[in-house]
Amino acid sequence: MSEFSIEFKDLSKLYGQATILNNLNFGIHKNKITTILGFSGAGKTTLMKHILGLTMPTSGDVIVLGTAINKLDELALREFRRNFGMVFQYAALFDFLTSFENVAFPLREFTKMNEEQIKDKVLNLLDSVGISLEAAYRLPSELSGGMRKRVGLARGLALDPHIMLYDEPTSGLDPITTHMVYDLMRDTHYNNVHHGFTSVIISHDIHATLKYSDYIVFMEKGQVVEHLDVESFKKSANPVIRRFLEL
Ligand SMILES: Nc1ncnc2c1ncn2[C@@H]1O[C@H](COP(=O)(O)OP(=O)(O)OP(=O)(O)O)[C@@H](O)[C@H]1O
Ligand SMILES: [Mg+2]
Repeated sequence: MSEFSIEFKDLSKLYGQATILNNLNFGIHKNKITTILGFSGAGKTTLMKHILGLTMPTSGDVIVLGTAINKLDELALREFRRNFGMVFQYAALFDFLTSFENVAFPLREFTKMNEEQIKDKVLNLLDSVGISLEAAYRLPSELSGGMRKRVGLARGLALDPHIMLYDEPTSGLDPITTHMVYDLMRDTHYNNVHHGFTSVIISHDIHATLKYSDYIVFMEKGQVVEHLDVESFKKSANPVIRRFLEL
């Protein structure tokens, strides 16, 4: 078994003449929390879209849990995506559905669970992310930003994924709520790690990143500048990293 749940092999992505990802070769450690850092436009979201098979490489391969995801057809890809839970900055909740129905949505879509099983599972998930029974029946517009992130996390976890992907999950939140969401991501990670669970976070929040990650991948201009465990990262002498750490 590989020590990585995700591997990039000679991965390049071009849009027109522009090289967005430039021959990436690295792996994301299984059962660990990895944060992808980098300035705006470095290619972080593009990389995450390759993990999900939402964007296909110009060349090279993306191996997820042993499968080259860029070689799957649409049907196989759709099925394969059950391995992922996603919390994206802008992939908001369905605003016409209550918290309960938002979390129930993937279960109704992808499983044959009956109403009673769905209710059990959804209320458990909402409870695990700290959403009360009362808030379960409110619409997203009637929740705070932090609560909406929690509901988004519960929805991402509904299908018991093996890989959780977060693209800037705390943008727009105050520092206290940011740390609460990070605590929740960490708890989620450790509550699931026994059956194989990898967390990948794209973040701009350097303080939270250093506190909560096992590994850090630092990207610049479509390349990986540094890929280190968090303690080594803090000591990196690379001037780009130093500049970022001193911001
Ligand atoms: N579909 C697309 N077509 C053309 N160019 C694109 C496309 N998607 C992304 N890009 C370009 O690729 C580069 C990297 O974008 P990406 O969204 O991956 O950056 P990022 O590191 O996530 O930045 P941010 O921190 O601002 O979210 C940018 O220059 C962007 O304009
Ligand atoms: Mg981005």
